[in-house]
This record gives sequence, C-alpha cells and structure tokens, in this order.
Amino acid sequence: MPEWTALGKHREQLAEVHLRELFERDPERAERYTLQVGDLHLDYSKHLVTDETLGLLRELAAAAGVAELRDAMFRGAKINITEQRSVLHTALRAPGSAVVMSDGENVVPGVQHVLTRMGTFSDRVRSGDWKGHTGKRIKTVVNIGIGGSDLGPAMAYEALRAYTHRDMQFRFVSNVDGADLHEAVRDLDPAETLFIIASKTFTTIETITNATSARDWLLTGLRAGGEAVAKHFVALSTNAEKVTEFGIDTDNMFEFWDWVGGRYSFDSAIGLSLMIAIGPERFREMLAGFHLVDEHFRTAPPEENAPLLLGLLGIWYGNFWDAQSHAVLPYSHYLSKFTAYLQQLDMESNGKSVDREGKRVGWQTGPVVWGTPGTNGQHAYYQLLHQGTKMIPADLLGFAEPVADLQPGLVAQHDLLMANLFAQGQALAFGKTPDEVRAEGVAEELVPHKTFPGNRPTTTILAGELSPSVLGQLIALYEHKVFVQGAVWNIDSFDQWGVELGKVLAKRVEPALTEGADVPGLDASTAGLVAKYRELRGR
Ligand code: F6P
Repeated sequence: MPEWTALGKHREQLAEVHLRELFERDPERAERYTLQVGDLHLDYSKHLVTDETLGLLRELAAAAGVAELRDAMFRGAKINITEQRSVLHTALRAPGSAVVMSDGENVVPGVQHVLTRMGTFSDRVRSGDWKGHTGKRIKTVVNIGIGGSDLGPAMAYEALRAYTHRDMQFRFVSNVDGADLHEAVRDLDPAETLFIIASKTFTTIETITNATSARDWLLTGLRAGGEAVAKHFVALSTNAEKVTEFGIDTDNMFEFWDWVGGRYSFDSAIGLSLMIAIGPERFREMLAGFHLVDEHFRTAPPEENAPLLLGLLGIWYGNFWDAQSHAVLPYSHYLSKFTAYLQQLDMESNGKSVDREGKRVGWQTGPVVWGTPGTNGQHAYYQLLHQGTKMIPADLLGFAEPVADLQPGLVAQHDLLMANLFAQGQALAFGKTPDEVRAEGVAEELVPHKTFPGNRPTTTILAGELSPSVLGQLIALYEHKVFVQGAVWNIDSFDQWGVELGKVLAKRVEPALTEGADVPGLDASTAGLVAKYRELRGR
C-alpha cells in the first residue's frame, strides 16, 4: 500500500529524532497529545510521533478499511471468516433497548434475560438464600475454567477486590495439574462450596477433567449421591447438550452464544463468579463502562479515537521500528492479573501469520505482550527497558485514588506509588545525557554506564479510581485496540486455530505415558522423553 510505503519513508526521517527535541520544539505537545475517554485520561505525548506520523497512520487505517470492518462487527456481520461467526461481544454490554442482529435475530433480549437470571442467582448466593445439599449457606465459590473462561473472571475479581463480598471466598482453578484443584479445595468444606464450571464449548479437556475431579471431591466429602450436584454445580456454556451429559441440569446453566469469542467472554455468563463477588449492580456498572468505550470507538472521529490511536501506535513500533514486544505495566496491585488477561486477548487474537484470504503475510503481526505491576518490575526487568538494546513500547496505568477501604497510613503510600509511575515515564522518555551524568561528578569511565538514552515510548493511562466502570472501560479500550491492529494487518483476530495441534498431540501421547502404548509417527526426541518419563515414574 502507498500508505505503508509513506510510513516507511517517514520513519527514516525520524531515525535520529529524540523525544527531548520533540518536546522542546512544541511546548503544547503534552496538552495536544492527550485524550479523555469517559474516565480514562490518555497521555500519548511520549511517543516517537509527530502530527505527520499520526496523519500517515490514520491514512493507513482508512486505506485498510478499519472503520468499515468496525461497522461490520457492530452490525453483526460474520467477520470471523474462518468460523463463519458474528463477533458481537459489544452486544453483551449494549443497553436493553438496543437492537443488534445476528442471523436475523435481535440478540439483546437474550443477553438481558441471562443477565437477569445471573442477577437473581447471585443475589441468592450472596444473601445465603441459596443453600447447599446439607442446608448450609455457600461460603466459597470455585470457578473452574481455562483461557477466556478463567483469565477474565480471575483478573476482574482481583481488580475489584475492594468491591467484593468480603465474607465469601472466590477461587479460580484452571490448570490440569491436579495441584491447582488440590490447593483450591484442600481447606474447604464441600457443604459450603459452589463450583462454577465455565466452558464455552464444554469439551475443553482441562476443565472437564477438573470438573469431574471436583464432583468426586464433593460427593465423597458429602457422602452423597449425584442428587447433591444440583446445589453445588452450575455451568456457564454455549453447549447445553454437553452440560446435561456432564450431569448438570440446564436449570443450573447460564448460557451464552457462539458469537462471543472465549477471550471476549467475561462480560457474558462467564462473569458469574465476578457477579456473585461484586453483586449484580456493580456488574451492570462494569458493563456500562464497556459500553461507553464501545460507543466511543464506534463514533469518535479518527483524531480522537483512543482505540484507533493505540492500535496504530502499536503498528508504528511493530512494523516500522522492529519492536517485538509490548509491556503493560499497571501501577495498581489490584491489576496484578491484568497483563496475563491481555496476553490472551492480544496474542490469541493477533498471533497469526496468514491473512484473511489465507495467504502468508509479508509483515509482522501481534507483539509479545508482557508485564507485571510496575513497582515490582522496576526492581526486576526495568533495567532492560531503560538501558537494554531493545525497543519496548509500554503502557503505564495508574489511578488517582486508592480504593476505599485502605487504612490511612496505607492511603498515604499511594502518592509514592504514583510518583514511581510518573518518574518511570519521564526517565524512559528523556533519559539522562552523558553531560548530565558528568555534571554530577561521575568518573569518566563510568559515564557510559550511568547514561540513560531515553527515547523509549510510553502511553500513560490515568483514571480517578479503579471502579467497576473504569475496569470495563479499560478492557474495552484494549479489545478495540487489538481489533484495529488485526484489521490493518488483514488477519482474522477472532479464530485461534494455533491452539489445536497441541491439544490433538496431547491426546495421542497420553496413552504412551500411561500404558506405554505405541504412538505411530512419534519423533525420536519426543519418544525419548516419553521413555525417560516412564522410567522416572517407575513404569
Ligand atoms: O484453546 C483455546 C481456547 O479455545 C480459548 O480460546 C478459550 O478461551 C479456552 O480455550 C477455553 O475454552 P472453553 O471456554 O470452550 O473451555
């Protein structure tokens, strides 16, 4: 595309430019390069861009048809082409009065119906009205799911801890390693435990295996038969047949639909554990936050469209500056699982190397997304961010207010936390020149070691506090950023065929481990490892 070529040429012109110079040249830069979307304040001034860069990037988006694909998504077109599905997670948070069509049917009434059922159930569990098999109230909820059926609820439960029912416990089991379930239930009373089996397909081997073991644990602990399952197991799924086959009554099933991708599903029934934790009203506030950013993405002009901008900035670095990864660094302990959640959202969506027509792409696609809460990272890997040889664009996320129930002494720590966020953005962008180091009286041989090159791009996202609505806004922002990038790269961001081969091979290899069965076509390395494993297990 000529727009792509133009960006390549422009990149050469910017090769030597430094953020210090860009800020010196333009005193209004910080003010001009900020956006307000709902409660989110976005500062993108510390990026290696000029007005010309942004213009060229927007031209690329226009030429790639980002707006057209976005509109097609919102109106329910089957933009997930390899699975022939609509992509309508935005309908999960649309107001009840909205009309969103998929396959000739308005999906909104169905969404609202499930939300109402979830609300009634959540209220009953929270109030103690829902009793276990022996008549005791539920004290612990264990969500069993993996990928999108785990990461979203687990992340949001941590993020919104301050809003949760503090007399209840919530645990999340995902790994097929038996240790995960063991540690989650070992101190629990089965009579007071509710299992939520979360699986879109209800065929995922990890989840079904853990759910079966959880049922055994429950029935053994209660010394009860299958009739106890109804009071201790609910299912979240699109697959009523498999849910029934597992032994969960569909009265205890909360459904969603194939137009919700797994990694886009936590604001569907998959969020039930979160809804029990924070209550239906707070959950609705979160949905309203999502919707606010959906509307922004759908209607804001390109110059003010935050997901478009963030998506294009990622393309700028990934395709024109050879950046391989993108760090997400929250300055909030409550967002400790946020980056792990984004890893699936981004890497499962855009980790593709063929385009929508099935041809190999000739450009880089999705980045490696990584990160942990910022202050911890500062004492671990920030050294590489500041002085390493790689360009790693980063998002710094922070909140003006700590959440409500901290003791006064701990509230005071908040300024120190946020001072770190601001300091890091500053140091990454502007660094410290050799002359500045020398002026501190540093011996000449140490000057190179103590110099910070700077010029490392960051976006800072600030909000008042991490409320349910703000969490919804943040997630929708990243969802649409990922959408924009997939659209420009012309890949299908909504399938995930790349996870299938490993699943098939695991099924094939398992009998070799357990029974020593011959696996036809097993390569020499894997066959050797299997043999060693069996030897170590004394088989
Ligand atoms: O294998 C990948 C994946 O399909 C993810 O996309 C999904 O979120 C996860 O597995 C869990 O799938 P399910 O909800 O169907 O159990």
